[in-house]
Amino acid sequence: MNHLKIYRRLLPLVTFQNLEDCKPLASVLIHAGIPQLEIAFRSEYAADAIRIISEIDGIQVGAGTVLTNHQAEEAIAAGASFLISPGFSEDVAKTAIRKNVEYFPGVVTPGEVMKASEYGFQTLKFFPAESYGGLKTIQSLHGPFPNITFIPTGGINLDNYKSYLKQSYIAAVGGSFIIPEEFLNSRNWTGLESYIRSL
Ligand code: 3PG
Repeated sequence: MNHLKIYRRLLPLVTFQNLEDCKPLASVLIHAGIPQLEIAFRSEYAADAIRIISEIDGIQVGAGTVLTNHQAEEAIAAGASFLISPGFSEDVAKTAIRKNVEYFPGVVTPGEVMKASEYGFQTLKFFPAESYGGLKTIQSLHGPFPNITFIPTGGINLDNYKSYLKQSYIAAVGGSFIIPEEFLNSRNWTGLESYIRSL
């Protein structure tokens, strides 16, 4: 299995509204030093966008908001090298294991962490982070689960992301704040690159 290497511990998320933005966005992420991207299955473009970006050298692309086995299969067939879900799906977990693709299931409770660990997953999305107690809750989970690392997403922003990244058990922070819509909508690629570099 190819493990996702998350440069600068930032995991950008995008929901594409067209396919024209795929190549320029990939290029921005590569040049800005965070060559990794989660493409949300929240638009009809997700699978095609994964296909386009997975053919570009120097960037790792995966699928987000993977809710069903069908989406997991579609994402993997399109070239996704990792899958992320907002919660824990046994179906998606089994497909990821069978296809040897990395999976970051979502959790918030100790029971969910235990379930995900039973399947062998050790890096878990913590979602929706800010609504479920943020860093304080993750700190509490770290006690009984010292080998688990977390990717908090949901409500992570410019004001709070650094406090998460101070902790060793935070594998990365994720979310839409890394690719703000204002840059995407205006296709301000140079502005986006400077913004990401400044994070
Ligand atoms: C996700 O799917 O990870 C979240 O929707 C990200 O939440 P955010 O938009 O608050 O970053």
